[in-house]
Amino acid sequence: MDESEVLVAAAREARERAIAPYSGFRVGAALRTTSGVVVSGCNIENASYGLTTCAERVALLKALSDGHRDFVLIAVVADAIAPVPPCGPCRQLLWEYCGDIPVVLASLTAVTARLQLAELLPFPFDRRSL
Ligand code: THU
Repeated sequence: MDESEVLVAAAREARERAIAPYSGFRVGAALRTTSGVVVSGCNIENASYGLTTCAERVALLKALSDGHRDFVLIAVVADAIAPVPPCGPCRQLLWEYCGDIPVVLASLTAVTARLQLAELLPFPFDRRSL
């Protein structure tokens, strides 16, 4: 398995742990650090709806909290034929901490898209604007 296959497998596994009773839409994400550590996350919903946290954000905040600072790749898995990309707020957070990393989108059985974060967030607000 190459590094993106490993990451997609980790995201699929994380998706199994999704807490998504309201939408029924289970998502898994996995980040790979420059040192090869894989940190995964699943979406965690809340009855308030608005406090729901996406899989990408769970993976990113877990990794940051564990002290990881350098990331090379993220994989996102959902049960959909069309690619499921990170939402806007997740793109912003990923940009802040990961920069222009490759984003691999996958279904339960296949990779559906592979693109750079800069393609998803082409004109970002970041520290350079401050
Ligand atoms: N969701 C994610 O976890 N990541 C995405 O990229 C898109 C949406 C979650 C949030 C919510 O729990 C459910 O999917 C439906 O929006």
